Amino acid sequence: MNLPIASLERVGTADREDFRSAVLAGLASAARAIPARFLYDARGSALFDAICELPEYYLTRTETAILGGSASEIAQRAGPGCVLVEFGSGSSVKSRLLLDAMPDLDAYVPIDISREHLDETAARLRRDYPKLRVEPVSADYMALDSLPAFINGARRIGFFPGSTIGNLTPEEATAFLRRARRLLRDDGALILGVDLKKNSQRLHDAYNDAAGVTAQFTLNLLRRMNRELDATFDLAAFAHEAFYNSIEGRIEIYFRSLRPQTVTVSGRRFAFAAGERIHTEYSYKYDDDGIAALAASGGFAIAKTWTDPERLFAVAWLQAAA
Ligand SMILES: C[S@@+](CC[C@H](N)C(=O)[O-])C[C@H]1O[C@@H](n2cnc3c(N)ncnc32)[C@H](O)[C@@H]1O
Repeated sequence: MNLPIASLERVGTADREDFRSAVLAGLASAARAIPARFLYDARGSALFDAICELPEYYLTRTETAILGGSASEIAQRAGPGCVLVEFGSGSSVKSRLLLDAMPDLDAYVPIDISREHLDETAARLRRDYPKLRVEPVSADYMALDSLPAFINGARRIGFFPGSTIGNLTPEEATAFLRRARRLLRDDGALILGVDLKKNSQRLHDAYNDAAGVTAQFTLNLLRRMNRELDATFDLAAFAHEAFYNSIEGRIEIYFRSLRPQTVTVSGRRFAFAAGERIHTEYSYKYDDDGIAALAASGGFAIAKTWTDPERLFAVAWLQAAA
């Protein structure tokens, strides 16, 4: 796996201060947690791409197959001259299926918090789609208030694949959808990729791969804190932990302290007990009723849902509701 190590140091000051205050607050709270968006520095984004290739991680190949089969219908629903706005675009791999099916697209606006990765992805897209206007926006999609002004007249079609909605709690997911609904306007729509509830073992395996790439992804957060926040985490003294909580319908991911230890972060000392867990990520799983309720809470109605034969994953066309 090729990780862009050379570019790791280019991090903006505002991004770093946001990271520092979130980490210090998260480690000082009773239920220790660090928001999942900080998992995606350049190395984290590359590790996520590697996770997508894992045999246990059925999500990416299943969603890709669904999108491959539905892209022309999606293009028809979108109509000509619209703008595709992707939230949490990562490497924009799945987006290419839609870009290929939508030659009349006015522009593609990938939004991601991982700035360097976004810039590299946009450069690759401009090379591969020379006629397409690609306008990346580096932002937190939970706090984004407007889209680039040039798209004002065009219909806006949102794209939120990858089960990224599952990383949000139901309350956050509703807040995100309401924001997306405002950004996409009354004639807009959102194409949403959602991981479905299923056999617990299958879910467990997807987040505990044999090659340990998901563990590297979680522990990369410690590495990032060491590099950007002058932290002293010993990566060998923490472990990745992921399990399915069937009551809450979510995968829970933590890093766990393997022994009693004290770590310094930006000059502040934090003691960790042996076995103590620090939460990093949820991945909520939905059923049909859950998706419909979520869509309605955000001001959308489901116009169409596509799934795979095993019903592992769903892609839904959410139409902005009146
Ligand atoms: C699960 S990955 C999905 C990537 C891609 N859409 C896919 O389906 O393969 C989540 C992506 O969302 C981005 N992301 C996470 N939280 C974000 C936030 N609050 N604002 C903007 N981007 C965010 C990450 O950097 C990452 O690229």
